[in-house]
Amino acid sequence: EAACLERLVRAGRLSAEDWAVLLAARTQPAFLEALAPLAQARAQATYGKTVYIRGLIELTNICQNNCYYCGIRRDNREVSRYRLSEDQVLEACEAGYQAGFRTFVLQGGEDPYWTDNRLVPFIQAIRHRFPDCVLTLSLGERSRESYARLYAAGARRYLLRHETADPAHYSRLHPDEMSLARRLEALADLQALGFQAGCGMMVGSPGQGTSQLVQDFLFIQDFQPQMVGLGPFIPHHATPFADQPAGGVTETLVILALVRLLLPKVLLPATTALATLDPRGHLAGIAAGCNVIMPNLSPPSVRKDYSLYDGKRSSGTEAAENVQALAAELATVGYRIAVQAGNHPDF
Ligand code: 5AD
Repeated sequence: EAACLERLVRAGRLSAEDWAVLLAARTQPAFLEALAPLAQARAQATYGKTVYIRGLIELTNICQNNCYYCGIRRDNREVSRYRLSEDQVLEACEAGYQAGFRTFVLQGGEDPYWTDNRLVPFIQAIRHRFPDCVLTLSLGERSRESYARLYAAGARRYLLRHETADPAHYSRLHPDEMSLARRLEALADLQALGFQAGCGMMVGSPGQGTSQLVQDFLFIQDFQPQMVGLGPFIPHHATPFADQPAGGVTETLVILALVRLLLPKVLLPATTALATLDPRGHLAGIAAGCNVIMPNLSPPSVRKDYSLYDGKRSSGTEAAENVQALAAELATVGYRIAVQAGNHPDF
C-alpha cells in the first residue's frame, strides 16, 4: 500500500493493479488513519484551512428516471411531488446570499418541465440578481445543445455523478433505458463546453466490489473532473434496494482521501449522505481531504420530500439557515468558511 501511495503522489495516476491494492484495504480503519493526514495535507496545500460552502436548492423531485437506488424514482408513488416556483428559488437565493453563500446549486430530478426555454431566462435572472455568485446545475442528462445553452445563459458548473464506471454494474443500478455510455457522453460534453464538471459515485452500492471501484478510479483519472460528489449508498424503503445494506463510513472516507490524492485541486464535498450516517461526517470528511460542504437551502417545507434515501439529514449543520453553527463546528478544528465563490483554481 505504501508503495502504491507513493506512486500515486509521484505520477498522479496508477495502474488498475495498484488501484486494486489500495481499494481492497478500504474498510480497514488503520488504512484510513494512515491515509487521511496525507489527503488533508494535500487539500491544505491548495485551499489552506478553508472550506467552500454551496447553497443546495432542490428544484424539483419530479423525475422521469427509475434508478433502483433512488427514493424519487418515477415508480415511487409514496413521495409527494413538488416543483419550486421561480420566486421560491429566488427567495432561497436571497436568504442564502444574506447568509454568505456565493454559489447556488440547482439540483433536481429529470423533470420535463424544465426545458431549455424555461431554464435559460431563469438562469439569466439569477445571474442578473446575484452577479457575484456562481451557479451550479445538477439536473441530469441533457443534450449537448442544451448544455451549451445553459452555459451561454451563465451556468458555470455542472454535477452529474457517473454512479459507476463499470457497464454491468451500471445496468444493475439502472433500468435498461439508461446507459453508462450516454452518461459518460454527457460528462464529456459538459467539460468540452467549458463547465467545471463533477462526476462521482455512491460507496457501497449493491454490486459494488473492488473491481467496480477500480473502474471508477481509472475513469476519474482519465476524465480529470473539477468536482467529485461521493457519499455512501443508503437504502430507501420504497425502492428495489430497500433491504440492501448501507455503505460504510470508513470506506467512504478512504475513497474520498484517495480522490484527493489523485486530484490535488479537485472540489470535493463532505456530502449529506456521509453526514447522515455519521454526525461528525463533515469533520471526518475534512480530515480526509474534503474542502466543500453543501448545506440545504431549499424551502424547509419541501425538504422532507427530496427523499433520495431514508433518514436524509436536512437539519442542524446540513441546513443553510444554520451556517453559523457550521462555522462554529469548523472552528473547532481550525477551519473557516471561505467567502469567495470558490471556483476550481484552474477556472
Ligand atoms: N443513497 C445514497 N445516495 C443516493 N443518491 C441517490 N439515491 C441514493 C441513495 N439511496 C445520489 C446519487 C445521485 C445523487 C443526487 O444522489 O448518486 O447522483
